[in-house]
Amino acid sequence: MLAALDWYRAAGVDLAVGEAPVDRFAASQAAPRPKPIPAAAAVAAPATVVTLETDLSQAHALAAAAQTLDELKVALQAYDGCALKLRATQIAFSDGNPEAEIMLVGEAPGAEEDRVGKPFVGKAGQLLDRMLASIGLDRSKVYNANMVPWRPPGNREPSPQEILSCQPFLFRQIELVAPKILVTIGNVPTQALFQTKSGITRTRGQWRELTINGHVMQAMPTLHPAYLLRQPAAKAQAWRDMLSLKAAIEKHISAGERRLDG
Ligand code: URA
Repeated sequence: MLAALDWYRAAGVDLAVGEAPVDRFAASQAAPRPKPIPAAAAVAAPATVVTLETDLSQAHALAAAAQTLDELKVALQAYDGCALKLRATQIAFSDGNPEAEIMLVGEAPGAEEDRVGKPFVGKAGQLLDRMLASIGLDRSKVYNANMVPWRPPGNREPSPQEILSCQPFLFRQIELVAPKILVTIGNVPTQALFQTKSGITRTRGQWRELTINGHVMQAMPTLHPAYLLRQPAAKAQAWRDMLSLKAAIEKHISAGERRLDG
């Protein structure tokens, strides 16, 4: 029983919705089968339209009012506009050095981040640390955040609506940290921040100038360490991205600010 409950929890089933059990197999067998749709009607059916109706005015106002990262975290904790908060253990707002000139933006907290309350502390985070170490960086020289600060149940991708509802806070977080260099980790933050539909294997390693809330920075997408754990052969590409990051640091950040050797 405990093992079954643990498995449910890992899969994101953490909410009881009824007092009595329901046999949904029996219900679906008893239900009349839907009539097949004639081919012509199927073709004429409208395409699925995704409408994002989140009212972001509250999020914008709360984020804009925060004058410090601590205030921003408090504002985000009080914000009820993202349903992920209801099922997460706690917020995983940031990790690393708020004074850093390099900011990394990931996708969303996983189970370990949800437990500890910081981004990138699980297995993927440990690999990220090794990637950073390969070019002389560690957490004292970078600042980490995610597109959404609450864990999506079962480690699914955050939905476009969930991303949108947290975006004013992330944008303010970037504005307050004001990094010279921003690295998007994996597909989700890359597509959202670069406003592209291209996949990460195409966009990785390419530098662009990115402006967020008036703050201009150099930005590059790289592969997500969770992907590298599943596809170790892709580490060669990630290594190229790290070398490119090192070169960009040398170009855009003065020696005193970067402290790559110390
Ligand atoms: N993956 C992410 O994108 N972010 C984390 O914080 C952990 C894993």
